[in-house]
Amino acid sequence: MNHRVELIPIFEDNYVFALINEQGHVVLVDPGESTPVEKFLEHNDYDICGILLTHHHNDHIGGVLELVKTFPAPIYAPLKNKTQIPFADHYVKDGDEFSISDMNFKVMELPGHTLGHVAFWNPDKKWLFSGDVLFGLGCGRLFEGTFEQMFESLQKIKALPNETLIYCTHEYTEMNLQFCKMLGNFDDSPITGDDENLELYENELVNKRSLDLPSVPLKLFVEKKVNPFLLASTVKQFSALRELRNKQ
Ligand SMILES: [Fe+2]
Repeated sequence: MNHRVELIPIFEDNYVFALINEQGHVVLVDPGESTPVEKFLEHNDYDICGILLTHHHNDHIGGVLELVKTFPAPIYAPLKNKTQIPFADHYVKDGDEFSISDMNFKVMELPGHTLGHVAFWNPDKKWLFSGDVLFGLGCGRLFEGTFEQMFESLQKIKALPNETLIYCTHEYTEMNLQFCKMLGNFDDSPITGDDENLELYENELVNKRSLDLPSVPLKLFVEKKVNPFLLASTVKQFSALRELRNKQ
C-alpha cells in the first residue's frame, strides 16, 4: 500500500497529519487551525475523505468547522467527548475499527491527558496517531485523568510492535531533552537514564532540528530506550517524574 503521511505545521508547535493514498485521498488528523490546511489541500489538489480527532482541546479541533465548509468530509471523534465535540458524524470507542478509502484504523482509548482521549492505529503501516499522550522524550500533561490512567495508557503504547511510528501532535522533543539531561544529574532521580542511547538520540535530534526537520514521527523502539515516562515501571515512579516535569 502506497500510503504516506505529510505534516502540516500549525500554531507554535502543533502538527496536523495528512494521510494520503495513491488516489490522492486524504485523511486529516487534529486540524486545530483551518488556513494552513486549506492551503495544503488546494495546493495539492487532494480529495479529503475523513477527519480524525483525538480529543476535544481547541488546538486539535479548532479548524474543523471552517474546513468542512469548503472540504466536506465525515468527522470521527471520541464517544466520550460527544458533549465537547457535538459536530462529529461518527463517535468511536476502544476497539472500534473502520476504514476511510483504503486506509484502516483501530481506535485505542488512552485516557490521562483528557478522559476521552483516543489514538488511531493504522495496522497496515504500524502508525499511531496519538494526539497528546506520548511525546518525544516526554508525555502529555494530566488535565483530566489520573496518574494511574496515564501510566496504563503508556503501557498500551509500549505494547505495540517495536517498529511502530508515533505521530504525536507537538514538537516538544528538544524541550523534553533538557528535562532528561537534568534527570541524569539528580542523585535521587526516579529513573536512571541510558546515557549512551540518549546521546545518540540527541545527535539525531540536533541534526534534524538544525535542518528545520520535525522530530516526529517518533520511533517507538527508540522511545522505549530513552523516554523516562516509558521507562517508568510503576505508577509511583511515573507520578514522581510527571510531578517533577510539571515544575519545569
Ligand atoms: Fe491537548
